[in-house]
Amino acid sequence: MQAEQRTALVTGGSGGLGEAIARALHDVGHTVLIIHSPGNTNIGAWLETQAGEGYNFIAYGADVADHASCQELAGLIHADGHHIDILVNNAGITRDATFRKLSYADWDAVLRVNLDSVFNVTRPFIDGMLERGWGRIVNISSINGSKGQFGQTNYSAAKAGMHGFTKALALEVARKGVTVNTVSPGYLDTKMVTSMAEDVVKQVVAGIPIGRLGQPGEIAALVAFIASESAGFMTGSNVSMNGGQHMY
Ligand code: CAA
Repeated sequence: MQAEQRTALVTGGSGGLGEAIARALHDVGHTVLIIHSPGNTNIGAWLETQAGEGYNFIAYGADVADHASCQELAGLIHADGHHIDILVNNAGITRDATFRKLSYADWDAVLRVNLDSVFNVTRPFIDGMLERGWGRIVNISSINGSKGQFGQTNYSAAKAGMHGFTKALALEVARKGVTVNTVSPGYLDTKMVTSMAEDVVKQVVAGIPIGRLGQPGEIAALVAFIASESAGFMTGSNVSMNGGQHMY
């Protein structure tokens, strides 16, 4: 059956995992909008490369950590005639340090980009989903929001917070055709992971029963399923995909 065409918005859509998610949603026929950070000077070249491979994305620059910037962005998206049916809150950063060395700036940046952004971007689009009686919100959390991670009090707190948000909002919108779910990827073959010290990456891989990093496309396929018609009975879930590194 041909999937119904929807409009999707992916935050951090030009990053390692975001790009794979944007492509997977495009592959099933959706119109895909991506949000990139305002300072991303590479976005023109990235869009051109994607278009060359058949992926025509519509890009908007906004600071997802900033409430006013997201309100402005939503106004622009609506003025351009788009209604968001599928929202993937994927934008995220790390600022790893043991807690005793963690600065307030690195706590604040991670909480704002990873967690405040979920409020900032979801809030302006939820009313439209409820009015149309259909919506899919997928929040990209992390294995480390569930299991904790040495050096990531900030990131683990933000990622656990995303799932609390998921469960509460899922209850509020369940009767209106809108589902809200969390996906918790393990360690993936993206810059976020491979930019860690080589010995740390080696240690991580040694702890993954499947014996390798995950591929972004594997997570993206899961996100596309959760965004589909077929997943209408799934809400408030946290779906993990981590090579067996953390089972619960
Ligand atoms: N468990 C227990 N002890 C650990 C440890 C661990 N996992 N890692 C390090 N230690 C110990 C070290 O052995 C060391 O002990 P001693 O002082 O007795 O020698 C002590 O803790 C200090 O460790 P470091 O030297 O590593 O401290 P550092 O300040 O140089 O670096 C760090 C700290 C940057 C957090 C570094 O440990 C690190 O990069 N850790 C990995 C963090 C990680 O996994 N981040 C995930 C990023 S990817 C991502 O987040 C995506 C996703 O969703 C999965």
